[in-house]
Amino acid sequence: MAELRIPRAHSNEWYDHLATVEDGYYYPRSSRLGARNGEDAYQEVVDEHLKDGMRVLEVGCGHGELALDLATKASHVTAYDRIAPWIERAAQMAADRGVNNIDYICHDAADPAHDRVTLPVGDNSVDLFGCRRGPLHWIPDAERVAKPGAVILHLAPMEEPIPAWTSKLPHKLHYENCGRYSGAGSIHISVENRLHRAGLTLDSGWGFDVPERFDDARELYTVVTWGLPRDEVPPFEDIEHRFERIFETHAEDGAVVLRHCRYLWKAIVG
Ligand SMILES: C[S@@+](CC[C@H](N)C(=O)[O-])C[C@H]1O[C@@H](n2cnc3c(N)ncnc32)[C@H](O)[C@@H]1O
Repeated sequence: MAELRIPRAHSNEWYDHLATVEDGYYYPRSSRLGARNGEDAYQEVVDEHLKDGMRVLEVGCGHGELALDLATKASHVTAYDRIAPWIERAAQMAADRGVNNIDYICHDAADPAHDRVTLPVGDNSVDLFGCRRGPLHWIPDAERVAKPGAVILHLAPMEEPIPAWTSKLPHKLHYENCGRYSGAGSIHISVENRLHRAGLTLDSGWGFDVPERFDDARELYTVVTWGLPRDEVPPFEDIEHRFERIFETHAEDGAVVLRHCRYLWKAIVG
């Protein structure tokens, strides 16, 4: 079998490639997402905890949209990501809107050149940590930067089942290779283990598993090819018949259903 030249989804290499084809972190598909899907709950839990005058740290901010929301109430937001063009775009977006209480910082907190994880803020400076769909690498440095009683609110992708039809596609397009598939294993155990190693404990965790409906073959193609190097991906027209067959055999009321899974968790530091 030919070797796959596909970076592992959500690795640094994968994000570096994504940044060459997208000017931010988007899901470029069009679908119908079930209610109470975790994304809405994350917004609610952030609204509940974010108080006037707080200092907020956003981890893995991508092109910076969430920070703009946080900055409407917070006195100051530091938002960082290791992808330089996304940070530049975020800073430009804030400047265009006249928002001046966000520092967007290009920073890799898990830079292998350093011997420990380092968040880009000072000791005892953060009231609220926000991280939407982002990584967990930063937890070992959370206590250093947290004020007593600071809250962490994190929305993480949760492993979703691999659809039965994946084997009908060419090997490169198997579900396990696409950016949607986290491959992270049991996220709630990962979170608890990381918190435990950092001397922290989980306050609450909530799982979300709702249907996401795709109405046509091209949208499903967009899902399974998202984040893959273009030169590794056959054009839609060459494999359209395979997607049509998947629709014929697996659609429910005209739509193919994927599971949309999220894990939302909260911890209190100190
Ligand atoms: C799934 S994206 C989420 C982006 C954004 N939070 C959102 O909700 O759209 C995860 C982000 O974490 C960033 N990231 C991953 N590892 C990182 C690290 N070690 N240091 C800084 N950013 C990192 C990636 O570059 C990416 O933008």
